[in-house]
Amino acid sequence: MSLPFNLVPNTHRTHPEKLAEIVGASGFVKHFSDHMAIATWTQDAGWHDSKIENYRCLDMAPGNAILHYGQEIFEGLKAYRHADGSIWLFRPEMNARRFNRSADRLDLPQIPEEDFLRSVHALVRTDQSWVPAGEEMSYYIRPFMFADEAFLGVHSAARASYIVIGGPASPYLADGMTPTDIWVTKKFARAGESGTGAAKCGGNYAASLIALREGAQYGCSQVLFTDAATHDWVEELGGMNFFVVTHDGVLITPPTSGTILEGITRDSILELAPALGLRPEVRPLSVSELFARILDGDILEAFACGTAAVVSPIGRLMHDKDGGVETIPLPSPVGEATRAIRTALVDIQWGRAEDKFGWMHTVMELS
Ligand code: PLP
Ligand code: COI
Repeated sequence: MSLPFNLVPNTHRTHPEKLAEIVGASGFVKHFSDHMAIATWTQDAGWHDSKIENYRCLDMAPGNAILHYGQEIFEGLKAYRHADGSIWLFRPEMNARRFNRSADRLDLPQIPEEDFLRSVHALVRTDQSWVPAGEEMSYYIRPFMFADEAFLGVHSAARASYIVIGGPASPYLADGMTPTDIWVTKKFARAGESGTGAAKCGGNYAASLIALREGAQYGCSQVLFTDAATHDWVEELGGMNFFVVTHDGVLITPPTSGTILEGITRDSILELAPALGLRPEVRPLSVSELFARILDGDILEAFACGTAAVVSPIGRLMHDKDGGVETIPLPSPVGEATRAIRTALVDIQWGRAEDKFGWMHTVMELS
């Protein structure tokens, strides 16, 4: 039986003047919209008590398992407002599937794909006035699930909560096409073999924070992680996948292989590449190959990609070398291929190009 996400309306909605100010402002989800989707799971009753209600603080016992053992997963997707006012989601079924893969790894319950999708559609439909119309602006949607039961023994919870919240967002990294400096860490790993790297769980992000601080000392705003066992192989950034482009049009990204998140943007770029004259190559990329080929002028461009970040060019890589810091500038910090990939993707997302792959799903038509 499907879960209904019926509306219990918020009686204290954001004032229209304040809302206009919020949806017109740039920044990555500085405000959450008036409602949230919520459902409860128990071992005995399965999923129940689903609804759309006020965005509100949660009541939680200090002994709640999520606060101690971090049994939690999340997703990230966006709603895009097209020029005619209609609102669309980009490949949301991929988020639903990945959410259940993450749930499996964290021993949380599965949520039927249709219920995940229904909750997302219902929230966006309810808070449609929160979906910005501005250039590069979207409504970022954050579904998440967590152990919601008070106990201190280490075991999986018999009660979980599923919630979807959202808010207006501009691209995660400063102004979209401005190149970012990236710290390549060989000191900290975010995920190891047979670990949780392929799951979207809070613990992976907690483990990445110290490396962000390491990189920030050198002016880097993001970190490129390497494999936990040898630190010889390139993996991904803390919240984005990683690509490079060679001078002869080869687009290289490492295979996900369990330690890297299976990014939906990554997958879409691999599909779009051939039509842009690029040859995708999914293969292990060593740190030494990466650095040497950039310094040789053979790798010209590098970029990070993800739902929040879209496609974001990388200006320089920095890393610790013999106790000092080596800076490796990309020959084309805002390269042609990066720009073409970004344009091809965002034109589909904002309805400016034909959606040949059937990636876009309408939330509502203009009424
Ligand atoms: N890698 C990590 C660790 C992420 O958190 C994200 C963001 O979701 C990505 C990659 C990109 O995935 P997607 O393109 O599905 O947003
Ligand atoms: C996303 O792109 O949706 C993410 O979850 C990344 C996060 C750093 C905001």
